[in-house]
Amino acid sequence: MNNSSEDLRRQILEGVARYYDAAHSDREFVRGKTRVQYAGRVYDEQEMVGMVDAVLDFWLTAGPRTQVFERVLAEFIGTREVIPVNSGSSANLVAVTTLCSKQLRGRRLEPGDEVIVPATSFPTTVAPIVQNRLLPVLVDCCVGDYNIDPEAIEAAISPRTRALMFAHTLGNPADMSKIMPLVKKHNLLLIEDTADALGSKFDGQMLGTFGQIATLSFYPAHHITMGEGGAVYTTSRRLAKIARTVRDWGRDCWCGYDNPTDGKCGIRFDREIDGVEGHYDHRYYYTEIGYNLKITDPQAAMGVAQLAKLPGFVAARKRNFKFLYEALGRYSEFLVMPEWHPLADPSWFAFPLSVRPGAPFARRDITRFLEYRGVETRLLFAGNILRQPGYKDIECRVVGDLAKSDLVMAHTFFVGVYPGLDQPRLDYMVEMFGEFFASL
Ligand SMILES: Cc1ncc(COP(=O)(O)O)c(C=O)c1O
Repeated sequence: MNNSSEDLRRQILEGVARYYDAAHSDREFVRGKTRVQYAGRVYDEQEMVGMVDAVLDFWLTAGPRTQVFERVLAEFIGTREVIPVNSGSSANLVAVTTLCSKQLRGRRLEPGDEVIVPATSFPTTVAPIVQNRLLPVLVDCCVGDYNIDPEAIEAAISPRTRALMFAHTLGNPADMSKIMPLVKKHNLLLIEDTADALGSKFDGQMLGTFGQIATLSFYPAHHITMGEGGAVYTTSRRLAKIARTVRDWGRDCWCGYDNPTDGKCGIRFDREIDGVEGHYDHRYYYTEIGYNLKITDPQAAMGVAQLAKLPGFVAARKRNFKFLYEALGRYSEFLVMPEWHPLADPSWFAFPLSVRPGAPFARRDITRFLEYRGVETRLLFAGNILRQPGYKDIECRVVGDLAKSDLVMAHTFFVGVYPGLDQPRLDYMVEMFGEFFASL
């Protein structure tokens, strides 16, 4: 046996592929045993081989594979710059912090500026607004599509309103035909949280490309995963540079993953700082109050393998959604079926349902029934976030009575459509819905 490092690597990677086959490839559905998950990792030997290959390189931080990931994801979205970070929550934090940068001068968000955000949100879509000392202005959502209510945006605008931030809920595009004219009319900055909406389009345009900056999550529940991970993306090179600075300790250096001796700027050793004698290495020159939210190359290797599968994932999500929509439509007397805009082309994250007022059962009855039979359900994240203990006392402005957000909090849940749901799992899920309604 040849023991050169290349040969050993090949043997290891072949072994990993065989290991995948032996240990991970069996996804047979066993009634009463297999859970019908609401989401999960979908992978094959490519992801495992890619990650192990990266580990053998032992490039422990972000490196060459991260660069490939950035490029391929940017191409898929049709954007210019992708800045990978270690979670979707970090992506939202970096995106909002970037728009607060002093480098943006008069265009920047300043403490006390208002940011309109739906009350029915994932918590870390709202958190960075508070963390950056901006004022969240909470507005209501619509039941059925669960997105921000465009009418509520108009009603919420004040002279201090500078930005709009929302997630396209569960992959379902918000009504951009009403929202974009408002954004333009009031000169708002738009931050799109597309954590659940990778591949969704509105009127043929990829979500996340409507505003200045957008975000993604690569947690295993999402359209692609790298374990933990996320990304900020933008067509603005300026915002991208600031976002990288915010992500990377606040340092100005933009050498990226290459680190040429003289710096990419070519003047690494020629920088000066006010009040400091001589020169200061640009690598230690800080222009923002930053964090360290970077990813590692083994994560990126997984991301690259997932990106190759993404078009298939999007198609499977749409197919599964369509199947459930047709199969569960018969319960629309008791359950509000999901709704979407005629111009929307959703790459669904999940299948949302709301128990109608007056139904002869409560949400807890149906979710418990399904869960006890192995069909996973989830609630629409935080519901009305102002009812959550951590958020109920935040400084904010509330527009309207948030009645729909309360309704969502009390009556809405979702089941999965992720690509790991094959026909036996989907059939079983529909059968369990049937058993629930038969039991009433
Ligand atoms: C809409 C939305 N935004 C942000 C996040 C946060 O992503 P992460 O879990 O990667 O921090 C999530 C997570 O599910 C989400 O659904």
